[in-house]
Amino acid sequence: MIKKEGIALERLDKLLASTGRWSRKEAKDLVRLGRVLADGSPVRGPEERYDPGAVCLTVDGEAVDCSPFVYVMLHKPAGLLSATEDKRQPTVLDLLPPELRRRGLFPAGRLDKDTTGLLLLTDDGDLAHRLLSPKKHVDKVYLARVEGRIDTEDVKALAEGMVLKDGLRCLPAVLEPLEDGSECRITLREGKYHQVKRMLAARGKPVLTLHRLSMGSLTLDQALKPGQWRFLSTFERGQLGEDRQA
Ligand code: URA
Repeated sequence: MIKKEGIALERLDKLLASTGRWSRKEAKDLVRLGRVLADGSPVRGPEERYDPGAVCLTVDGEAVDCSPFVYVMLHKPAGLLSATEDKRQPTVLDLLPPELRRRGLFPAGRLDKDTTGLLLLTDDGDLAHRLLSPKKHVDKVYLARVEGRIDTEDVKALAEGMVLKDGLRCLPAVLEPLEDGSECRITLREGKYHQVKRMLAARGKPVLTLHRLSMGSLTLDQALKPGQWRFLSTFERGQLGEDRQA
């Protein structure tokens, strides 16, 4: 990194590769093919340096966001571990292309292997920490299908805050029965190990399937099928930034 008047300048190919969309070699090729403009002007070569916070880069006319972190929304399918690597089993990272895996993304908050739904993958450790910190109380909303029927006693017990047999004290949670009570929406402000399953099992309503709909301001994009992912929009990133402050 080179500094000019106190501003850190980055090589163009490095900036493009940092988005996770292209490898360094692909970025160099894009530049050489004249597909990249910086502030509206053609660039001379991949070694040109720019201020990541100020330059406006486009590739084939489309604006490229060079912010230092990557944020990916994934529709986690059942059967994958929410981990970065595992010797024996596939992980959610296996769904991402090599350029993104190389960036060292990790899941911000785990889902069980059989749980589906919203998973945020990022390399922004500070954001992940703040979203997951119990002190921040970021809402996580799940859809569960259970054995038996959710009743008003269950709703009341969760609203009061349960203490499980193993001594785990749960913060008050919102339980909304759906359909005939065999499904429910549950909103937690914390994320302890197997928490939804343990709370509902303690009520005698074991979970059959579990799906995360949202986390703070971030809602799973209905257009994403299980296993599909996309980058967060600028708007979604801005909102997450506000969750981080809350
Ligand atoms: N609670 C659970 O029990 N499992 C999950 O995957 C997420 C929340």
